[in-house]
Amino acid sequence: MKFFLDSAIVDEIAYALDTFDIDGITTNPRHVQVSGKPFMSVIKEIANLVEGTEKTISVEVNPHIMDTAEMIAEAEKLAAISANFVIKLQCVEVAFKAIKTLSEQGIRVNCTLIFSAMQALQAMRSGAYYISPFIGWKESNAEDVQQFIEDVSIIRDNFNFDTEIIVAAVRNARQIADAAVAGADIVTAGLQVYQDGFDHPYTQKGIKIFSDFWDKTQYE
Ligand code: E4P
Repeated sequence: MKFFLDSAIVDEIAYALDTFDIDGITTNPRHVQVSGKPFMSVIKEIANLVEGTEKTISVEVNPHIMDTAEMIAEAEKLAAISANFVIKLQCVEVAFKAIKTLSEQGIRVNCTLIFSAMQALQAMRSGAYYISPFIGWKESNAEDVQQFIEDVSIIRDNFNFDTEIIVAAVRNARQIADAAVAGADIVTAGLQVYQDGFDHPYTQKGIKIFSDFWDKTQYE
């Protein structure tokens, strides 16, 4: 399973690339706003970090755009900036023809804001390179996300779609493990979610116990 970092903070992305070799980056308008930088500047900075690698950066088209031709034009403009960019289009009816047209041109699309298996199926039918089902938002709404991701994975496999499933809006390590079990290809989460997941209270407890014994033992 691939680990993507969900962030537009350049220092954080550089740290995660260096420390645990994240496989890709996902951004959204909230992350860009939090970075404090203009959209175009920050996506170019992120592109510089992974230039020459296969790592993808998902960059989101202006969410106000609700017209297929405008979506295509904006996606083409963004895709021309970096070979690493995958263009995020929200899962709405006018996006499906845009996804198809762009994918036929070799421009990869991440169909985002997916909350149902039906939306996932249609995005895959349209040729999406990635689909992003958001599980955190559904869990907050008391919905069963495990069955959802399993259903999306089964549909993908039943029809041999090439689309990769990015489980998004991930809040904790249990959700990452669940996504892996359910057949997702990728998870995307913030740095703190990974760091919390890499640690465990018993690991810290064990370090303390063994350090105490170490201190009472001669080395040679
Ligand atoms: C995924 O690509 C999204 O950027 C992300 O996971 C959105 O969820 P959040 O902003 O609620 O974490």
